[in-house]
Amino acid sequence: FQTGLLAGKKVVITAGPTREAIDPVRYISNHSSGKMGYALAEAAAEAGAHTLLISGPTQLPCPARVTRIDVVSAVDMFAASLREAADCDLFIASAAVADYRPREVAEQKIKKGEGESITLTLVKNPDIVAAVARLPQRPFTVGFAAESEHLVEYARRKLVRKKLDLVIANDITQPGIGFNSDNNAVTLVDAAGEQVIDQRSKTQLARELVTILAEKLAS
Ligand code: PMT
Repeated sequence: FQTGLLAGKKVVITAGPTREAIDPVRYISNHSSGKMGYALAEAAAEAGAHTLLISGPTQLPCPARVTRIDVVSAVDMFAASLREAADCDLFIASAAVADYRPREVAEQKIKKGEGESITLTLVKNPDIVAAVARLPQRPFTVGFAAESEHLVEYARRKLVRKKLDLVIANDITQPGIGFNSDNNAVTLVDAAGEQVIDQRSKTQLARELVTILAEKLAS
């Protein structure tokens, strides 16, 4: 692992879950711990990049030489990402962004009613990585794909639909990898083909991914 690989480059990474408020005490979220994105930020900083981590709520400490911007919701993450991505060289979307948010956020705590069910209407959140890929001066734009079936096929669809340069696909049904674990195994999917990286620690994987991305940036 070469420490100067990303010297002079600005790298922006999204990480962790987002929280979509229902009322002052409740929210919709997911099991992302932030470990994958934080490992990538640590590796990018080790490689000499000016590294910005846009993070949803996590329990993790900010890696050394990384600037962290804390956000809560997908809409907050969207605003911070578009602002920071405008002049960056590499954007990596590892966050597990909620696809939908409650249409209305109740000002007061919702009380339990007499009925056996209540209905929550959800509206679509903006797609952060797709918006970054549409910037006039777009960075090299990398998305993740968290899939439970048809890993490569669905990742390739995301590559095309979101106009990404690369998709890092992980199978979230496999035990011991993906959400909230210390290890991951991925398949890189781009226009040139596919590359499998077997299970290893997220720290080790992040270093290998940064090496591959630095080569792609240079070519
Ligand atoms: O945080 P960890 O516990 O370490 O777990 C890591 C991880 C499993 C969360 C990570 O490896 C991962 O797969 N992250 C992406 C999870 C996800 O939401 O995937 P998706 O297939 O739903 O989204 C595809 C891509 O679009 C992702 O790059 C996502 O960040 C991005 N996206 C999605 C929705 C949205 N509104 N905006 C986005 O930018």
